[in-house]
Amino acid sequence: MERTRIIEMDQLELAVASLLQEDIVAMPTETVYGLAGDATSDRACHRIFTIKGRAMDNPLISHFAHYDQIEGYAPVIPSLAKDLFDAFTPGPLTLVLPASRHISPIATAGLPTFAVRIPLHPVAQELIRRFDRPVVAPSANLSGRYSSTSAAMVYDQLAGRIPLIIDGGTSSNGLESTVVLVQERSVTILRYGTITPAMMAQVIGSSRLQVAESLRIARESAQHDANQVVLSPGMKYAHYQPRVPLQLFRTVEDLHQTICDNNVMILILGDAPLPKPDAHYKRVLRYDTPTVYAQKLYESFALADALGVGQLFAYYDTHLGEALSDRLLRAAAYRFLS
Ligand code: TXA
Ligand code: MG
Repeated sequence: MERTRIIEMDQLELAVASLLQEDIVAMPTETVYGLAGDATSDRACHRIFTIKGRAMDNPLISHFAHYDQIEGYAPVIPSLAKDLFDAFTPGPLTLVLPASRHISPIATAGLPTFAVRIPLHPVAQELIRRFDRPVVAPSANLSGRYSSTSAAMVYDQLAGRIPLIIDGGTSSNGLESTVVLVQERSVTILRYGTITPAMMAQVIGSSRLQVAESLRIARESAQHDANQVVLSPGMKYAHYQPRVPLQLFRTVEDLHQTICDNNVMILILGDAPLPKPDAHYKRVLRYDTPTVYAQKLYESFALADALGVGQLFAYYDTHLGEALSDRLLRAAAYRFLS
């Protein structure tokens, strides 16, 4: 066990020194906090997998301070990628590009591609600029659990495993970046995020944009199960999960019929009456716009875990958008009623 310190933005030189020693530090980004290490170091990259308990075949994203820095590491930048970089970065978009130079093969899991992101958060940018090399940064959580959107949440999951957490406030976005695979003539969405398919279609045209088969299958299975209480399509899609079991509801009636004990936390995304007054439950959280749902989702999971409730129930009555419904469904391991 090592002692984990939370440092302020004016102590960035400590984080730079850690990176130079191939240590891993938690850094804030506008999406979620990341576990940053030297992208060119096998040792640092290997450490990240160990700290998270992450499968070695799941590659890491390389983070850059600005576009010009990418050119030294990406021998090929398709013109569609240039268009997307121009339109959406710095910001919450990750582009998977062909090949890489100097990036550790541990980070890319030996793939012939590598993922590139330019975060918007000033602390992440400043850290990478001072380090003068890209950093790999998966979300700062244990594998399978929800991401962290504050320094305190990183501490809860990873204290004793990393030396430093840089406190850069609460992540303004709250969900991980959109991930796209960019090829010569097409762009394929691999993970939904704040940059939506519609936003990208405006830039590159909808005929060039597609959704990965794996995302479509997950979505269709979830819709298929809509009328049953089932654990499906299976744990292999599970991710972003609280320790407390999460159950989703799409009608108020189901919510009312199901709650039979008071040791529950209820998360309401939208507007719904409760069968009993709020005070009868361990905690009730209500959020009323999709931007706030995204900002608060993982924080709500952390609170449910901290309270040690028997179950977390989430009700939503509005259209959530692809990214939020993807995260909620996976976090609930596709357990939902109605
Ligand atoms: O918002 C974010 O992207 C955060 C912050 C810290 O930047 N990072 C993040 O990293 O979410 P992580 O490791 O939790 O998720 C990275 C995703 C994974 O689903 C991984 O499989 C995918 O990106 N990925 C990385 N490199 C890839 C590649 N070469 N080909 C396909 N997918 C890749
Ligand atoms: Mg992650």
